[in-house]
Amino acid sequence: MNLTVNGKKRSFGGAPFKRLIDVLREDFRLTGTKEGCGEGECGACTVLLDGEPVNSCLIPVAQAEGRRVETIESLASSQKLGVLQEAFLKRGGAQCGICTPGMVMTAEYWRRTGGSSEPGAVRNVLAGNLCRCTGYQHIVDSVIEALQRKGKGKREKFE
Ligand code: FES
Ligand code: FES
Repeated sequence: MNLTVNGKKRSFGGAPFKRLIDVLREDFRLTGTKEGCGEGECGACTVLLDGEPVNSCLIPVAQAEGRRVETIESLASSQKLGVLQEAFLKRGGAQCGICTPGMVMTAEYWRRTGGSSEPGAVRNVLAGNLCRCTGYQHIVDSVIEALQRKGKGKREKFE
């Protein structure tokens, strides 16, 4: 199977029903994507598949054949965090960090598609991403801050 992961062509020769999250973490060593429930309920494992957020714990890798996968690792360079990551750092949106990559990838989808920074809209788009540490105010504040910093620190190179 061939797929594009964070802008690079990758191939996987294992079982086609291996979960995408496991291929990313175990075979491609992209351990930024986290597993929470493993049942499609918490959104911790969210990655972008052809630009849309999906739960990578529910997707067999075969379903990503020929498609474009983006993980949290795509948002920062070795020198600089992406705009959402900076905002999470500044606003305290990450505590234990298990939910954070999924939150950030959902928010990245929202940012790219021109989503509103209105608090209700942000809460709504993040409704499928659960956090068990902080409550949601710091997370919502982080996303709003990133959305309001339009044009600063944008990283669109995989689009
Ligand atoms: S780990 Fe995938 S939705 Fe919870
Ligand atoms: S920061 Fe720990 S689950 Fe959200």
